[in-house]
Amino acid sequence: MKFLILNGPNLNMLGKREPGIYGSESYDELCRRLESFAVAHDSTADCVQSNCEGELIDHIHSAPGRYDAIVINPGAYTHYSYAILDALLAVGVPAVEVHLSNIHKREEFRHRSVTAPGCVGQICGLGVFGYEAAMLYVLSR
Ligand code: DQA
Repeated sequence: MKFLILNGPNLNMLGKREPGIYGSESYDELCRRLESFAVAHDSTADCVQSNCEGELIDHIHSAPGRYDAIVINPGAYTHYSYAILDALLAVGVPAVEVHLSNIHKREEFRHRSVTAPGCVGQICGLGVFGYEAAMLYVLSR
């Protein structure tokens, strides 16, 4: 399996950013973890992060033919980016949405995901394990 691991705005700040919520692992450490996890499962994982909505959309558009699945944490775009939803719906590459934190236990504006309807499912609140759980789900299919 070839995975595209797509992380949205502020996720490059992992490790420094509100560690009580998002954990102490840095973005680079997360990428190394997921790349190794993929290799251990006869797969590959390309990790991409952007703070820009259009760049995330461009990466989603480039996925067909290159990747078997997308694991996406759209960050705050989760809550209002209909453009990312439309991109996910446009490409038809199976995507799993991941959130490090339990968005349902937090501020009300985080409870709604407008991007989740473009995904096979959503995992939240499991920290970095959520990305591995998403990959395991895809591998099990
Ligand atoms: C997040 C949750 C979002 O509400 C927030 O804006 C993020 C990270 C998470 O991984 O828990 O940037 O997607």
